[in-house]
Amino acid sequence: SPLAHLTPMLSLENVFSWEEMQNYLERIQKMLHTQNHLSFIGEPKLDGLSIELIYENGLLIGASTRGDGLIGEDVTLNIRTIKSIPLSVQDSANHHHIVLPPSFRVRGEVIMLKDDFIAMNRERKQHNETPFANPRNAAAGSLRQLDPSVTAHRPLQAFFYFLVNYEPLVFPTQESILKTLQSLGFPVNPMIRLLGTPEEISAYYQWMQESREKCAYEMDGIVLKINDTPLWTKLGTTAKAPRWAI
Ligand code: IVH
Repeated sequence: SPLAHLTPMLSLENVFSWEEMQNYLERIQKMLHTQNHLSFIGEPKLDGLSIELIYENGLLIGASTRGDGLIGEDVTLNIRTIKSIPLSVQDSANHHHIVLPPSFRVRGEVIMLKDDFIAMNRERKQHNETPFANPRNAAAGSLRQLDPSVTAHRPLQAFFYFLVNYEPLVFPTQESILKTLQSLGFPVNPMIRLLGTPEEISAYYQWMQESREKCAYEMDGIVLKINDTPLWTKLGTTAKAPRWAI
């Protein structure tokens, strides 16, 4: 059944060379009337399925796929079978001082590890079942199962990177969003870094390219997000994608 997103789940603009990246950096500096380097959060672009989780009074009450960005497919029962996804979250007494709002949503990516995908396909072939084409299709197929007990036996993982409708808390940076997600018990990707200069962005890209083969899961690029969230509001979004990420 369909499930609506309160804020649209947008897409991302791409650049395919360092030259295009520099053009992007210059363009947003101009839009923000600054000569200073902007700080970015670098994240691996995971090749999986984007999902949104809905929490009310600390309990996971809903989950949906991206769909057309406005309305997704309800996959709540299947999401509940993924062990690393918290069914409930609590105000933690740690130094981040979290005050949980009655309702919030969390966004991230459901993936399947390369090794799990290979093992699963081997088993499917033995049972004369059609193998999946790639880990992404395997994750998608597993999440769209009609029977949650089938999904429960599929080796799905997830990483989260975004909090929406988290009033009245306001997060000053993407870094603080990720820290909060982590302290609430959501898996956050360990290869995420804060990048302060174009040189650091370039080095991060290089590092991810070198890590790609040996990485346990597939990535199809890196995502760069301006760290300061007030700049997100200033830059805004196009119909398709935010200007503060690339
Ligand atoms: S941010 C608000 N971060 O890429 C900007 N997306 O092309 C959009 N994706 O639908 C989301 N890893 O499925 C973001 N670290 C990451 C991501 C990521 C993978 C996917 C996501 C989204 C698509 C946009």
